Amino acid sequence: MKHVAVLTSGGDAPGMNACIRAVVRSAFREGWKVAGVYRGYQGMIENDLIEITQDHVHNTIHRGGTWLKTARSEEFMTVEGRQKAISHLRERGIDAVVVIGGDGSFRGAIALSKEMNIPVVGCPGTIDNDLFGTDFTIGYDTAVNTAVEAVDRIRDTATSHNRLFFVEVMGRDAGFIALRTGIAVGAEAVLIPETVTYIEDLSSKLASDWASQRRSGIIIVAEGDDQGGAVEVAKQVQERFPQWETKVTVLGHIQRGGHPSALDRILASRMGHGAIQALKQGLSSVMVGVKAGQVVYIPFEQATKHHSEISPYLLDLIEALR
Ligand code: F6P
Repeated sequence: MKHVAVLTSGGDAPGMNACIRAVVRSAFREGWKVAGVYRGYQGMIENDLIEITQDHVHNTIHRGGTWLKTARSEEFMTVEGRQKAISHLRERGIDAVVVIGGDGSFRGAIALSKEMNIPVVGCPGTIDNDLFGTDFTIGYDTAVNTAVEAVDRIRDTATSHNRLFFVEVMGRDAGFIALRTGIAVGAEAVLIPETVTYIEDLSSKLASDWASQRRSGIIIVAEGDDQGGAVEVAKQVQERFPQWETKVTVLGHIQRGGHPSALDRILASRMGHGAIQALKQGLSSVMVGVKAGQVVYIPFEQATKHHSEISPYLLDLIEALR
């Protein structure tokens, strides 16, 4: 019998609860025990763990956030911090760990697995969708749907008032939320960190829009765009185009909350189940991914080495349909 510890780490993402539930239910089915670590690696260091029962995961599949809570732990980046965490896990007889989080969480997982010499498996939970080795991460679909709903409302008022809106979506290092939101709302332009933003190019597009009587518009800006966030880009455009009345909306953390979409619940369930299957097969230091509809296992080293790539086809689609 195994004693698995499960934790959520880094930025929360809708569907994390569904993933915890899948890990717990799949482990129980194997006759294993599961300990829940509160507040990610920080809770591991502070010995903040509980033994999970069926009651803990009952009625959680539809809830946003993570009932295990989450944190970004500086202390876990140090050998001393990890040694504390490892001694607590050893005292409790933990012999495997499932980490639900993003690339920073998986880097911690690599160190933990090496230093404690136990298997660690990861499930990609981040709204950013930037992890290599999976088509989608848990929380991304919900975040895009949240952003799309918000931008649809903005489009209504933008049209009524003949205004140009710059809407900032999350993505400090990645433009995936911006890209799909932009396609779904029919944005006039999408600015993302993965491509160089030329304000002059954007300006000439807006000039031709104006010339063809387009009097309102939506520009989606990823927070990590190289020209700065939506406030900065709007300022630069306004200086060149006094005829446009520009407005800025920063969507912020509403993208991280809310009930997970059906797609995220299903993805999280498959990945949580996949994590226990991986442990059963004797795998370690792998992330569970879903590629082309199939569950796959990607070594942590690969998943954390490079980000997923933005599809040039989707980028072109924005231009083709504007
Ligand atoms: O969850 C990922 C992410 O949303 C990034 O896109 C964003 O920059 C970051 O987390 C902000 O997280 P926090 O506010 O928790 O530091």
